[in-house]
Amino acid sequence: MFHVVCVAAARPNFMKVKPVLDALEALGTRTTLVHTGQHYDPQMSDVFFEDLGLRQPDHRLGVGSGSHAAQTAGVMVAFETLLTELEPDAVVVVGDVNSTMACAIVAAKAGCLVAHVEAGLRSRDWDMPEEVNRVVADRVSDLLFAPSQDAVDNLRSEGYRADQVRLVGNVMIDTLLANLPRAHALNVPHRFDLPSNYGVVTLHRPSNVDDPVVLRRLLEALGQVSTEIPLLFSVHPRTAAHLEGMGAPPGISLVEPLGYLDFLGLQASAAIVLTDSGGIQEETTALGTPCLTLRENTERPITITHGTNQLVGTDPTRIVEGARRVLQAGVEPRCPSLWDGNAGVRIAESIKESLSNNTRLRPTDTPSRSL
Ligand code: UD1
Ligand code: UDP
Repeated sequence: MFHVVCVAAARPNFMKVKPVLDALEALGTRTTLVHTGQHYDPQMSDVFFEDLGLRQPDHRLGVGSGSHAAQTAGVMVAFETLLTELEPDAVVVVGDVNSTMACAIVAAKAGCLVAHVEAGLRSRDWDMPEEVNRVVADRVSDLLFAPSQDAVDNLRSEGYRADQVRLVGNVMIDTLLANLPRAHALNVPHRFDLPSNYGVVTLHRPSNVDDPVVLRRLLEALGQVSTEIPLLFSVHPRTAAHLEGMGAPPGISLVEPLGYLDFLGLQASAAIVLTDSGGIQEETTALGTPCLTLRENTERPITITHGTNQLVGTDPTRIVEGARRVLQAGVEPRCPSLWDGNAGVRIAESIKESLSNNTRLRPTDTPSRSL
């Protein structure tokens, strides 16, 4: 029986790892779930285990917060010790957080087959820590599971071989489709005293929230939008630290980070979502909910070309005008192909096949073109 270690670390990882874990187990694979502890508050971690029915981690590395180097190094040291003990056949990492990169590097050096779920996304913005994490995780992985054709194209243009790159669809949408009926049944907008027409906000990119001048300007723009439609703002812990003392405009309700089902229920019935989150750009596309992304770029252009997302940047005028346009005209719902609820199964089958054939698609075999 093959043994596969799956790594989860931060809020957006839990919904990505769940379908892969389930599908691997359905194929008779032995799985071990490792939580690095990058996110640790109950509302950033425990709540997702409850909401998603994700089994408790087999190992917790308890790394916690720190500078990029301290956090990455902490994960690497702890994960290396664990891998020496476990000696798995493969390690699956998801997404683009520091723990993703850290565990991919350690697994590659331990000689395991490394699979990166959500490979090939590129913002081409090197100021984003996630861009570094994505590129490094891809580079040391054997199997590159791409959620969309643009991600495949990025990888191919960087020189990765066709047999390393697998277009499998979007695991986050597997989890969304599996849980949407439960989320609807919770009648979440009513529980939050929201009228039928409301908007949802999240912000946590360092470029948007770490500088008080930038954050205040965004808050003022959101304040203007909230004169047209009430906004519920789920405040990420990074943002909470910077919002302290700023106060929110009267049309914006600030709430603690929400559980998955509550947040999904809110997104599903919202007239508009304003965000800088990667995952939320994808979820709003799958739900057909209009999304304005308050960033200058996105690693998920598919949500613009084949979804409901628009990039409005961080200029207040563009944000307010963009919101007015969406609220008046709406957007046409559409969804990328293969975002169909079966990405986890495709990934598990692909990993099992590679392990059965003993095919190591090492990145060292990648030809010519440099990154
Ligand atoms: C991280 C990821 C980002 C992802 C986001 C998802 C990196 C570099 N960044 O950003 O890609 O989009 O998670 O939410 O990996 N904190 C708490 N409680 C927690 C976790 C964090 O209070 O449970 C606070 C700490 O003060 C910490 C800060 O939030 O220093 C930032 O946490 P960190 O995990 O370093 O980065 P995020 O901004 O959460
Ligand atoms: N999410 C949640 N509660 C919230 C805000 C977000 O459950 O209050 C979920 C959201 O539905 C998505 C994921 O968290 O599944 C996105 O995580 P985040 O925005 O923190 O990270 P990113 O996707 O930008 O890396």
